[in-house]
Amino acid sequence: MEVVVKENYDEISKLAAQMIADLIRKKKNAVLGLATGSTPLGTYKELVRMHKEEGLDFSGIITFNLDEYVGLPPLHPESYRYFMNTNLFDQINVKKENTNVPDGNAEDQDLSCQEYEDKIKKMGGLDIQLLGIGGNGHIAFNEPGSSLSSRTRTKTLTEKTRQDNARFFNNDITLVPKYAVTMGIGTIMDAGEIILLANGTNKADAVAQAVEGPVSSHCPASALQSHKMVTMIFDKEAASKLKDHYPTDPVRNKKV
Ligand code: GLP
Repeated sequence: MEVVVKENYDEISKLAAQMIADLIRKKKNAVLGLATGSTPLGTYKELVRMHKEEGLDFSGIITFNLDEYVGLPPLHPESYRYFMNTNLFDQINVKKENTNVPDGNAEDQDLSCQEYEDKIKKMGGLDIQLLGIGGNGHIAFNEPGSSLSSRTRTKTLTEKTRQDNARFFNNDITLVPKYAVTMGIGTIMDAGEIILLANGTNKADAVAQAVEGPVSSHCPASALQSHKMVTMIFDKEAASKLKDHYPTDPVRNKKV
């Protein structure tokens, strides 16, 4: 596990985008695991810039998103499918048919979740998974108490998560869905590489638990401590409750 602490949000976004771009340049048909939320927005903005200004080619990549609300139509402005189309897919040359978001409207949720798992496997598994972290330590929608070996399934959202996300629903918690379909912690842990991003003081407690606390389903992000290739990139505020000192660059960017 590598933890790096950058000066600000712009720097964490650029580093994450650079790591994803390096993979795409090396492997044209890379399988990317993508996240929603406000945290990865800067990363997507930078990837779009790289596409437009540097010709970064997404035509061969395949994407799988972490999660989706249950019951929102795909064209609902707060659905994660809509979020991904707007903030990334519509602005790069990825083939839409190669982009996958869990189906929050499937008649048979269990079957749909199994099919999502099967498709990830069929595509050769996730080469890299981008993650944010919830204020309660959740990753994707794996809320505290989620099994560390869980797979894609439907989860009940906690009150805390619904409150945190109410800002996207006119600050009205009654409009926030109660359930979501989410990759499991086990699904995420199967990725070849993981990048976790966090910024802002409201993430400082969750980050401290995830990095320096015990591995526990109480803080789902703590499971990442046992992943073979995870890079956690924080800004100073998100890292403010960490006790140890961490470098400003991952070893891959080392200056000798
Ligand atoms: C959401 C998503 C997560 C995301 C997290 C943090 O509920 N399901 O994938 O990482 O909460 O969101 P934000 O980046 O907006 O703080």
